[in-house]
Amino acid sequence: MKRDLSVPRHVAIVMDGNGRWAKKRYLPRFFGHKAGVDTLVKVINACADHGIEYLTVFAFSSENWKRPEDEVSGLMGLVLVAVTKYLAKLARDGVKIVIVGDRNSVPDRLRAAWAEAEQATAHNTRITQSVAFNSGGRWDVVQACRQAVADGLKPEQITEASLSGYMAMRHAPDPDLFIRTGGEVRISNFLLWQVAYSELVFTDCLWPDFDVAALEAALAVYAGRERRFGAVSTLPFEASSG
Ligand code: IPE
Ligand code: IPE
Ligand code: MG
Repeated sequence: MKRDLSVPRHVAIVMDGNGRWAKKRYLPRFFGHKAGVDTLVKVINACADHGIEYLTVFAFSSENWKRPEDEVSGLMGLVLVAVTKYLAKLARDGVKIVIVGDRNSVPDRLRAAWAEAEQATAHNTRITQSVAFNSGGRWDVVQACRQAVADGLKPEQITEASLSGYMAMRHAPDPDLFIRTGGEVRISNFLLWQVAYSELVFTDCLWPDFDVAALEAALAVYAGRERRFGAVSTLPFEASSG
């Protein structure tokens, strides 16, 4: 079957705005993160229903260690809760979970929960859900270079293709659509190498409020974009000038 090119194969999301969502409700920030997990589970299924093959979300950045200690430990704890609460359902729903990020500096219990989530869903094929945790675009480029050097690659063997093969996201094609919720218009060090030609969509919607309608609105914006990858437009003048 021919793929519908108006539907992105890979969607990447910066799930931002949890703290502000909680603040609006006079709740501690943690409640925003908790609501954000519930939103993610719904968005994964909605993406799969729309034929999206890969969803990658930014859950904890290399820079998020700068947050107060109780928020950082709250986020780590939330991962354990999320695995307990949702892993069986996601496994049943055909979701394959992959964790991308630096696992070395996270607590042992978290590392074990990630391993459990990956093992329990490894055989699934409906959608691949990558969770960027303790992750950042610059970290990924550096770790890929280190691995390439450790493997003894010669300067002339360092190519875009060979380096891509060392990146944490090597299991997925580059994102077609990059969405950031929460109103900020920046990348915040998410997947720098892979978003080179992604279509960027920014929305003021706070992540816990991001529902199927918001996802469909972003998909509609994407469907209206013309991707040129540096080449010349093939659309008639009226269509490309609007
Ligand atoms: C995004 O929401 C979630 C994480 C960074 C873990 P924020 O916590 O950044 O929410 P805001 O931006 O403060 O509203
Ligand atoms: C980006 O959001 C990281 C995640 C969503 C995990 P931040 O809230 O940390 O980004 P900045 O600090 O506003 O750029
Ligand atoms: Mg934020």
